[in-house]
Amino acid sequence: MRLGTPLGPAPTRVLLLGSGELGKEVAIAFQRLGVEVVAVDRYPHAPAHQVAHRWHAIDMTDPVTLATLIEQEAPDLVIPEIEALATNALVEVEAAGTTVVPTARAAKLTMDREGIRRLAAEELGLPTSPYVFADTLDEVRAGVEKVGLPCVLKPVMSSSGKGQSTLRSVEDSEDAWEHARTAGRVANPRVIVEGFVEFDYEITLLTVRHAGGTSFCEPIGHRQSDGDYVESWQPQPMSDAALAAARDVAERATDALGGRGVFGVELFVRGDEVLFSEVSPRPHDTGLVTLATQRLSEFELHARAVLGLPVDTALRSPGASAVIYGGQDIDAPDYTGVADALAVEGADLRLFGKPDATARRRMGVAVAYADDVGSARDRATRAAGLVHPVPRG
Ligand SMILES: Nc1ncnc2c1ncn2[C@@H]1O[C@H](COP(=O)(O)OP(=O)(O)O)[C@@H](O)[C@H]1O
Ligand SMILES: [Mg+2]
Repeated sequence: MRLGTPLGPAPTRVLLLGSGELGKEVAIAFQRLGVEVVAVDRYPHAPAHQVAHRWHAIDMTDPVTLATLIEQEAPDLVIPEIEALATNALVEVEAAGTTVVPTARAAKLTMDREGIRRLAAEELGLPTSPYVFADTLDEVRAGVEKVGLPCVLKPVMSSSGKGQSTLRSVEDSEDAWEHARTAGRVANPRVIVEGFVEFDYEITLLTVRHAGGTSFCEPIGHRQSDGDYVESWQPQPMSDAALAAARDVAERATDALGGRGVFGVELFVRGDEVLFSEVSPRPHDTGLVTLATQRLSEFELHARAVLGLPVDTALRSPGASAVIYGGQDIDAPDYTGVADALAVEGADLRLFGKPDATARRRMGVAVAYADDVGSARDRATRAAGLVHPVPRG
């Protein structure tokens, strides 16, 4: 196995499809190995654009546009970093001999909630919440009757909690359907109605498929607000039985998707019972905590795994992460409180450099290590709370 020289006559080149905060860390991990990084997003100056050798702003949901760019850049590896891609173009590119990470099929199956849920529950027989897919309000109402209350309604094409509602009675169906419609990109979205799982806690089990087999990171606990991650920590304490069940579910799900790389397997845990929720065939937002906790972050693990290099999933220290939101609409914000945040013992920051802020937009993250998870959570939350995106001046 050889790596080339970036910008030379024969570089090892990766094409990152998606250039958000996770893509930025993936780009940096490849840069450190001397890999040529080309970063793509739909808007200019996205976080990973700023640390790449070259960047493009294109509509990646258009199959012709995407295929044309892949042909032009001729990468060794195409690395999807987001879900909303023209995945049929990826299937064709893969068939023509370019490696898609982890596989084009994985990108296609996880692009919406239906592909991966049917694979997990109906083909693999993994335990999940009860669910129904629906295309109309009447079908939603029937779905609510079938899965029972409370339940959760989500557009099949959505992330970060967008368009998601929890229903307590069948009368909530109309508002939930309306919320899904206005949050989605299409007028009448397909939705999933899922039985609400009263879990004790939920985890992300980072699972690495690499040249030497499958390895697991220590489980990551996290807290979500309105379906969006606000805080994560590692390790999440688990019973031996629950951890064994979690690894079994994660291995079966990731084996079915195939290829090499990091997968974020989301699981609900109730006692010793583990339910599969969803999986990202790429580093996971809650895994930002690994920047503080592991010898190799999830981003470095992803870079190594996809290049066929050895990995090490060892935890170095307990730690935590806490999200810094925009708080309001601001064009090219300044950041105050950075010095105070970095003065918090054991804390570090990642400011993503996004061109503008909105109230719910993730602008940065604080990560912290400590001797125990409780202190790490306190440090990360304190540091994140000190940083404020503000109007320039
Ligand atoms: N069926 C469910 N029961 C209980 N909580 C749920 C359920 N589905 C989602 N949630 C909560 O909402 C969060 C986001 O849902 P998820 O399906 O992971 O959407 P996304 O793709 O936007 O991350 C989950 O991490 C969990 O906290
Ligand atoms: Mg999720």
